[in-house]
This record gives sequence, structure tokens and C-alpha cells, in this order.
Amino acid sequence: MSGALLLTGIGQLLTLRGAVPRRGWALADPGIIRDAAVLVRGDRIAAAGPRREIERLPEARRARKTDLGGRVMLPGLVDSHTHLVFAGSRLEEYELRLAGATYEEIARAGGGIQSSVRGLRAARPAELERGALARLVQFAAHGTTTVESKSGYGLDLANELKILRVQRALARRQPVEIVSTFLGAHVVPPEYRRRPQAYVDLVTRRMIPAVARERLAEFCDVFCDRGAFTPGQARAILAAGRAWGLEPRLHADQLARTGAARLAIEIRAASADHLDRVTGSDIAQLGRSGVVCTLLPGASLHLGVPFAPGRALVDAGAIVALATDFNPGTSPTLSLPMAISLACAGMRLAPAEAIAAATVNAAYSLRRHDRIGTIEAGKQADLAVFDVADYREIPYYFGVHLTSMTLKRGKIVYARDGVRGWPRSAPGDA
Ligand code: NIG
Ligand code: FE
Repeated sequence: MSGALLLTGIGQLLTLRGAVPRRGWALADPGIIRDAAVLVRGDRIAAAGPRREIERLPEARRARKTDLGGRVMLPGLVDSHTHLVFAGSRLEEYELRLAGATYEEIARAGGGIQSSVRGLRAARPAELERGALARLVQFAAHGTTTVESKSGYGLDLANELKILRVQRALARRQPVEIVSTFLGAHVVPPEYRRRPQAYVDLVTRRMIPAVARERLAEFCDVFCDRGAFTPGQARAILAAGRAWGLEPRLHADQLARTGAARLAIEIRAASADHLDRVTGSDIAQLGRSGVVCTLLPGASLHLGVPFAPGRALVDAGAIVALATDFNPGTSPTLSLPMAISLACAGMRLAPAEAIAAATVNAAYSLRRHDRIGTIEAGKQADLAVFDVADYREIPYYFGVHLTSMTLKRGKIVYARDGVRGWPRSAPGDA
């Protein structure tokens, strides 16, 4: 027997092969192969295709075999926007909001992001690492194999570095791939409330160089919105980041239309995220741009506000990606399948479009599309298996945990108890 692994009995293999990034009609073509098999050699996909063809390969005959019983396989999901490292929940604010207070009112009263900053500053790295590790287990259990994660609850040099170092330590000690983004410009911390420009200077002159010298992040992000940073401040911060080799991303037009999406286009950011408030002409310009539009329906749901105009962005030709925005304030879900359901039900994306947005386009926004996001020979063996016969059941059975197996770099990192030998058991099966 060779060291290879043959995954066979795949009812539908969604390869997502084709042009990257995906936009327009191409977003809806998941490149399905029915009755498929995937041959994994080490951390790579050696071959993927119709079962009969793959099984004939000499290496496949010698390989260890796992029959997936007709289940559906997708590329490992790519969560391109999260805030993974924090201490403590924000349950009190959750109840306050349900009773009528708004997110911005709570923030103005010293809660919101500031409350997570207090918790983070008081926490030891080992505690933060433990919490984030437990969350990463959950990400893998939901089919996610790559997670972008932002700092932004430290808001001073030592604590921003603390978060990014925890992320680096986690990247080394567990299998889910972590992509780090520096978000020192999340909000102005209370000690700089009366002199925000001094905080912008701290971010650009001290924090960004320190982060870059230690190679702690690949991207720089700014929360450019009402109550956070202006487009002018964001432009300066992202230019400083870029000068130090950090590619820009933006939290854009979530709470109010401040022009952040336009800024993302102007500076050719890798991604503009949220976009709940963009309007017709922004949508048209985003559609023609190379900026990935990362939609975060979990945050809109949890805040009880209308969803971003996902359908209009797709129809305008935008490169749409989908992420959880996992964080303790606005989106405490780490389920990308749930985000896929919300994008379908709430934004009228087709299931195939939402899946492309959470795989190939998300990988593109993280500049990893040459390695992850599709199932093709030569790509990394990041794979997610779902306990359904048709991929459309993944969003359809919203809120139901259907992931049965997750592989990262060719290793099984999650397997639902009893998956082997059990029949497929989607809720609709008679
Ligand atoms: O993406 N919008 C800004 N940042 C986060 C929320 C952070 C928080 O409330 O803790 C977001 O929604
Ligand atoms: Fe966010």
C-alpha cells in the first residue's frame, strides 16, 4: 500500500475549478463531478475526477481507501474575515440590544469594542491561546480549513503584538491555517479619545513597523465607519501598512455610508468588507473593480439590520466573498455553512454562488488561490465533506450541523463520530 489516501464514493464533488477570481455568471458554476474520487498524496491532491478514472490509477489501487457513501465534498471552507482572539463574551450587550439599545449607543457608552479591549488587555497570552484554540476546533468541525484573523482588541503596541503573537503560536500548534491581519485601527482607544490624530500616528509610526519587522501580519485593516476612522485617516494608515508590505483590507460602509468602499477601490484594497450600506453607484463601481466584496451576513443578522446587497453586487459583476466575521460583539458564529445559508435566504445568492464566495473567492482575497479554494490536482488537500447528497442541502437545512469530515493538508482534522460505515443521513432522507 502506498502512503496515499483515496477518497471515493463522493456523490457530488464541487471542484470550483476554473478562472479565479469568480464573478458574474461564472460564480454560479461549481464545477461538479458526480460519483467522484479524490486521491490525496501527502498534503496535496494528486488527482480528482470521476471515480472510475481515478480508481484506475496505479497509485489509487495501492492507496488506503475511505468510501464517503455518496456524500458531498467541497474545498475546505475559507473564512476570510474573523476576530478570533478575544477574552470573554459580550452577553450583557446582546441582551441590551435585544431590549432596544443600538450597537452604536452601547459603543458610545463605553461598551462594544472597548469592552473587549478591557478584557483583552487583562488576559494572559496562555488564556487567549486556550480560548482561540477551542474556537479553531469548532471552525474545523464546520468544514473551515483556513481562517483569517484580525488583531484590534489591544489598541496599544504591547497588546496588539500580544494578539498577533498568539495567532502565530496557534498557527504552529494546530492544523487550521491562520492568516493574520493587523487591525490596530479598530477604534480610537479611550486614552486617545481627545486626540485621535495622535493615535493614527501611533498606528502608522510605531505599531505598523513593529508588526512588519516581526512578520506578524500579511494584511492591514481599518474599521472605516461612523464612530471609528474616517476615509482620510484610513487612507493614511493603509498607505503606511502598504509601505511596510501589508496589503490593505477595509471594514467598509457597515454602519453608515462614509465612502470607505470608494476608498477601497481607489487604493486597490484586497477586500472591502461588510458593505451593508453601499448604494447603486458604489455597487456599480465595485462591480467593475478588482476589490473583493466580502459579505458578512452573520453580523447583519446578529445586529438585526438589513443584509448587504449581495444579489446586486453579484449582478454588477463584483468579486463576492463570504465570511463569518466571527467576533464576540456583532457575529458570534463560526459556522461558514450558516453564513452560506444566510447569504442565500437573506441576500438571494444561489447556493453555488455562496459556496464559491466562501471558497475560491475568499482564497483569492487572502492571496492563496494558487494553493487553496478549489479541488484540483496539485492543490493543497484541504477538503470538507458534508452529510448530504446534494450540495444545495447545505444552505437549505440552515443551522443544522452537516459537516462529516474535514481534511487539512491531507490529514483528517475532524470526523463526526460514526461517519464511517453509516449511511448518509441528511434531515430530508426518508
Ligand atoms: O467586523 N465592525 C467592526 N468590527 C467588528 C465588530 C467588533 C466588535 O464589535 O467587537 C465587525 O463587525
Ligand atoms: Fe470585522
